[in-house]
Amino acid sequence: MNKRVAQLLNDQVNKEFFSAYLYLGISKYFEREGLKGFASWYKAQAAEEQEHAMKIYDYLLDEDEDVILKQIAGVSVDFKEVIDAAKEADKHEKYITEEIVKIMDAAVDDKDYKTQLFLNWFITEQQEEERNSKEMVAKIKLLGKDKKNLYLLDKELAARK
Ligand SMILES: [Fe+2]
Ligand SMILES: [Fe+2]
Repeated sequence: MNKRVAQLLNDQVNKEFFSAYLYLGISKYFEREGLKGFASWYKAQAAEEQEHAMKIYDYLLDEDEDVILKQIAGVSVDFKEVIDAAKEADKHEKYITEEIVKIMDAAVDDKDYKTQLFLNWFITEQQEEERNSKEMVAKIKLLGKDKKNLYLLDKELAARK
């Protein structure tokens, strides 16, 4: 594997773990706000991000590349309003999509078809992640102002496995 592609994939392992950390921070915020449904939804999201990190981790090892486990940046989350947490997640997913695209660009430049194939899964996943995070912002915009509706939305989100 090309050095640059390997390095970008390594960085992405870190970014996916950071995503998990960020979602855990958001989950904690909701927990402290008494919104258990939101908290469990974002906790599930955090678990998914760890799976993403491990997918890349496994791919690198399968390709006989080293995995460099860099330090994961800290997360400090304190939101004024519920919608701000959802907006933060939405912004972050857009950023992650850009990062995945950068790795894809490098793999295309290098005619690394195997990595392109591997990254296709992430492109599709990011499409779904962006759709979900956008939906969440829209839902909170629609329902979040009314406490009773927010309570009902919290109940709905609690259903996510
Ligand atoms: Fe991810
Ligand atoms: Fe994500």
